[in-house]
Amino acid sequence: MQISRPRGTSDILPEEARRWRKLENVIHELCRLYGYGEIRTPIFETTDLFLRGVGEATDIVEKEMYTFKSKGKRANSLTLRPEGTAPVARAYLENGLYALPQPVKLYYIGPMFRYDRPQAGRYRQFHQFGAEIFGADDPAADAEVIALAMTFFKKLGLKGLELHLNSVGCPECRPVMREKLVEYFNLRIQECCQDCRNRLVKNPLRILDCKEDSCREIRRGAPSPVDCLCTECGAHFEHLRRYLDLLNIPYHLNPRLVRGLDYYTKTAFEIIIPGAGAQDAVGGGGRYDGLVQEIGGRSVPGVGFALGLERTLLLMLDGAGEVATAPGPEVFVVTAGETRDTATRLVADLRAAGLVADRDYTGRSLKAQMKYAGKLGARYVVIVGEDELRGGRVALKDMEAGRQTEVYLEEMVDFLRRAVGK
Ligand code: HAM
Repeated sequence: MQISRPRGTSDILPEEARRWRKLENVIHELCRLYGYGEIRTPIFETTDLFLRGVGEATDIVEKEMYTFKSKGKRANSLTLRPEGTAPVARAYLENGLYALPQPVKLYYIGPMFRYDRPQAGRYRQFHQFGAEIFGADDPAADAEVIALAMTFFKKLGLKGLELHLNSVGCPECRPVMREKLVEYFNLRIQECCQDCRNRLVKNPLRILDCKEDSCREIRRGAPSPVDCLCTECGAHFEHLRRYLDLLNIPYHLNPRLVRGLDYYTKTAFEIIIPGAGAQDAVGGGGRYDGLVQEIGGRSVPGVGFALGLERTLLLMLDGAGEVATAPGPEVFVVTAGETRDTATRLVADLRAAGLVADRDYTGRSLKAQMKYAGKLGARYVVIVGEDELRGGRVALKDMEAGRQTEVYLEEMVDFLRRAVGK
């Protein structure tokens, strides 16, 4: 029986990989411009990091983590990372980055893993581009990460995305929010879904974010987190909104926006594709001033985002951002007769000179090699024939013009370099 890839994963083939590369190049260039350094953390982490960082009462921790036991005498529990913020916070702490001049600005691109029911735009292995700022509590830092995310989509030519913004408060105002929500939902909880009944006890704020129709209806009249903000959180939110206005970044205030991870404080935002249904978030983020402390460090404020790259690529497929098809080799070396040794050396010489060169490895006839070179879209074909070689020459075909000439072997590389403009 043929073995298939695991459900919810995908193979990225060369043509598709070129689109990924384009996306990644935009990310690297943009992050350089904004002053973020790249960070690469392990694909798996100690399970505790996510229990404490993301939160035990979240869907991610309760249902979606790929957790396994390590091997060896002191085997501990490990988890394939479901997100990047807790790992980056751990790395910040573990590597003493708090000793550097603050803030420290980091970005990452990489696979994340969540056990979820796969569908269009939702996978078990997916990729995120994330950016995080540690050590800045200024709302201007919140505005910067939002600007970075929005500029990224703009650079890709994606239009019509909406920024949804909310504030979920801090440990000071959260109990007030909680109390008001519990009071409101207590009277109506029988009509809510089972998940929300559990949330009422564990994390009532999350009821605001439930996707079930019945729960949507019930929460219409629910108290809004922004109405419960303490003075400091209220001022932070005001300032952030002013900065967004200054930067000409439009946003929708969304009092129902509560992110699915527990570490958020104050700012919470999502970037939405209007009308895209359940998987409508192409990115999300916010402030997490308690995270570093939660995982065992000192109190360090943080803010950041992560964007889903598969969802971004799906949007690019829908219109903007097409990538030209891959160009063929600049030179294809064809053998006629017993000239394989010369051809082998010639291909190596061409590549060493910086030309994109290729050849046949399947023993095709001369005619079939020419046809193959045409299919690959080769710009020039060098034909290494026995007779010509005796005279120290090879034939050179310009595939665009259809012309064929002869060139001395030792002049071949220079001649072709000039011809392709290298
Ligand atoms: P998140 O909202 O869980 O946030 O994920 C961010 C983005 O990753 C989503 O908006 C979506 O585009 C993509 N994504 C999530 N799950 C899947 C999936 N199963 N399949 C495909 N794409 C998916 C975080 O992960 C936070 N760490 C963001 C953050 C960074 N907050 C502060 N800093």
